Amino acid sequence: MYKALTLALSIALIPTVALTAPPAEKKAGIESKDYQWNAQEGEKIEALKLKGVAKLGKEGYEVCGACHLPSGAGRPDGTFPQLAGQHTTVLIKQMADIRAGLRDNPTMYPFAKELTDAQELAHVSAYIESLCIPVDHGKYEGPDAAKQVADGKVMYEKECIECHKANGEGVKEKFYPVLAGQHYKYLLRQMTEIRDGHRRNANPDMVKIIKKYDNAQLVAISAYQASLSMPGAMCKAGPAAKGAKKK
Ligand code: HEC
Ligand code: HEC
Repeated sequence: MYKALTLALSIALIPTVALTAPPAEKKAGIESKDYQWNAQEGEKIEALKLKGVAKLGKEGYEVCGACHLPSGAGRPDGTFPQLAGQHTTVLIKQMADIRAGLRDNPTMYPFAKELTDAQELAHVSAYIESLCIPVDHGKYEGPDAAKQVADGKVMYEKECIECHKANGEGVKEKFYPVLAGQHYKYLLRQMTEIRDGHRRNANPDMVKIIKKYDNAQLVAISAYQASLSMPGAMCKAGPAAKGAKKK
């Protein structure tokens, strides 16, 4: 009851908090010649060393669920990404980058800024990773869907598979994100930002590859990514299936 009330209040407060909090200071990223991708520094290494326990992160996740939804599903319109099932390493790195001003996220910054405790971050990340990946995420719905997905597959298998793997499962130890189950519109936005140098914490080897793609190619490759599915990690179809994934 109190929890529900706190959650309702935090949802109601979001616009006010977001408008009044000072923005993050920007840290030099991919645009700087001294940029070192994934430098092992600060609270990130601290949180990575600690053991996160999924059930101890459930309460800390509540505030996140206001935007990313309690299931972690985010929104098919791409405003809020799908988080469920993401690797703890990726979650911790992205949170640390957002807090450090290395990845611009003005909407979420006021909340990321509050999560200062490394142990709490480890628990919340473990909780998110334990959630099954919802299957009803946003897919490509434009013209020639089958052809777009097929064209995207060719590009993906040539240039992305090495890091993001065949089913979009990424590589936990290397901070390569899970892509399976992500919304098409979020993927397309990220791909565009990575190409244009606006996702300042991006992996430089990936940026080199994505730089050469035109808009049409980004559409196809995003359509393909949104079609990926990771066996064993996906939620069962149907409204009743919201349980945690078995690992
Ligand atoms: C006010 C809404 C809001 C809240 C609350 C919020 N987020 Fe976010 N989050 C966002 C938005 C918007 C993005 C996508 C930003 C972009 O497009 O780059 C995002 C992105 C992320 C990402 C990067 C995902 C990826 O695939 O790279 C992570 C991780 C994340 N959020 C975790 C959290 C956690 C953990 C919390 C709770 C402490 C939280 N968020 C609370 C809005 C929110
Ligand atoms: C060298 C390994 C590598 C290669 C090759 C690579 N990526 Fe990535 N990718 C990463 C890493 C690492 C990240 C997380 C970047 C960061 O630190 O923010 C990422 C992030 C992403 C994201 C954002 C995910 C999210 O949740 O926000 C998308 C989308 C993506 N990659 C798609 C692709 C596609 C499509 C290709 C092929 C054209 C590709 N990547 C090639 C390593 C790679």
